[in-house]
Formats: sequence, structure tokens, C-alpha cells
Amino acid sequence: MARIISVISGKGGVGKTTTVTNLGAALVKRGKNVIVVDGNVTTPNLSLHLGIPFYPITLHDVLKRGTPIEAAIYEHPTGMSVVPASLSAESVKNTKIEKLQGALLNLLGRTDVIIVDSAAGLGKEALTAMKLADEILIVTNPDLPSVTDALKTIKLAEEGGVDVLGVVVNRVKGKKHEMSLSEIKSMLGAPVLTIVPEDSSVPKSIKKKRPVVHHKPKSRASMAFRKLAARILNEPFKEKPIKKMGWFERLTFWLR
Ligand SMILES: Nc1ncnc2c1ncn2[C@@H]1O[C@H](COP(=O)(O)OP(=O)(O)OP(=O)(O)O)[C@@H](O)[C@H]1O
Ligand SMILES: [Mg+2]
Repeated sequence: MARIISVISGKGGVGKTTTVTNLGAALVKRGKNVIVVDGNVTTPNLSLHLGIPFYPITLHDVLKRGTPIEAAIYEHPTGMSVVPASLSAESVKNTKIEKLQGALLNLLGRTDVIIVDSAAGLGKEALTAMKLADEILIVTNPDLPSVTDALKTIKLAEEGGVDVLGVVVNRVKGKKHEMSLSEIKSMLGAPVLTIVPEDSSVPKSIKKKRPVVHHKPKSRASMAFRKLAARILNEPFKEKPIKKMGWFERLTFWLR
């Protein structure tokens, strides 16, 4: 029976889709069958991150016309399967996101993990992604607006009885103006599963339309996403020896 993990943030643009593609690819590298689903049906970009923007059948056909979800699953070169959403403006209208939960039931026996990318904000789409999940993963940046929205997300999950797996702190630059890890932890009261540094390999990998764990497997961002996959599976993860780390990595290693 598959685990359904939704990736939610509250605040937009913090790195949810980047987390979905890289967690998915890193779980595949650990031998898991993974399906990633674009639950952001109004402003989808999962397929753009993965480089196959034009699919004949998408999640929109499933939600609008009752097309079986199996017809909207595509194999990606990374080994994960993708259920993309349509990029057309027309598809924004009359899409019944509340049908997503029922559609995903058909995938439970087909895979180990289903990862749902969610929309920014805490509107109907994000709340649907939250409600249908067994567990949610919160993504935040180390600033007060993102962490405040992450906290709101956690509170709503707790009210709804949804397990919070933990937090991904993304785009950490190690600057003085950023919130510290201990401030983030004490504000959110949830475990920080990984700290992803600000890393130019990430936008470069998006330009190349591949997860960074494939594009630049030894980058600092890749290491953080691989660690996330290990933690989610409760498997050991060998950190790079500290001597080979840059000063920023040594700092985050020490903070952890
Ligand atoms: N660790 C990182 N280092 C550098 N840039 C990053 C990192 N993570 C994400 N980005 C950049 O941030 C931008 C937003 O990332 P992403 O699309 O994953 O966010 P999102 O939360 O899914 O956004 P939305 O809420 O709009 O769906 C991308 O352009 C990406 O290149
Ligand atoms: Mg996104």
C-alpha cells in the first residue's frame, strides 16, 4: 500500500516543486517505486521541471472528464512516474480538485510512494492535497513570512489529523538576516528533516529540466535531497566527511 506524501508550504515559491522532483528521484535511487502527481492544477509546473510539458492526457482529464488516472501516468527517464497537469489556461476553469483523492485511490496498489505537489497558499487545492495525504512535508525558507505560513499549515494539518512528517528548510544562505535553525524549530515544533542550501545547481538543473540529484549528484543541494529521502524511509545516510565541506556546509553540519 503506497504512502501518500503531500508537499505543502503556505507561502509560494519556496521550493515545493523542486522538493517533489528531487525527493521522487532520490527515492527511486533508493529502489522505491514513486509516482509524482501535480496537485497544483491552477498553476502547474511539475512537468516543466521534468521537461515534458505536453502530455496528451493529464490530471485535468481525470478531474474534469472522469478519465481513469492510469491513462495519465507517464514514465520519466529518472525512473519515477509522473501524473502531470495541463498547462493550458482553459484547463483552470471548472476543474474539480476534490476528485483527486478518489482518483489517487486507484494508484495505491501500484507503487510505494505517491508524492503530491501542491499549490501555493492554503486555498482549496492545497487543503485538498493536505486532506488526502497520509503525511505532509512542509517546505519553508529561513525567513519569517515563510515560516509563519508554514506554521499555519502545520496547525491546519494538526486540526485535520494529518501527520506532519517534518520540515525542509530550503535556500539557506547562512546570512545573518536569516532565521536560525533553532528559531525555525522552536516556532514550528516539527522536526527539520533536511537543510537545503542556496545552490545555483538548482536553477541550472531546472533549466536543463532534470532534478538536481541527476543533473549534479554531488552538489550540496543534491546531498540535502538525498538525505531527505533517507530520512523519510528511516534509512541511514552517510554525510560527506566534514573535512571536504565548505565553510557553509560545516556550519549547517555543526548546527545539526
Ligand atoms: N535550494 C535552492 N537554491 C537555489 N534556488 C532554488 C533552490 N530551491 C528552489 N530554488 C529556485 O526557486 C524557484 C522556485 O522553486 P519551486 O518552483 O520549486 O517553488 P514552489 O514552492 O514550487 O513555487 P510555487 O509556489 O509557485 O509552486 C525556482 O526558480 C528554483 O530555481
Ligand atoms: Mg510549485
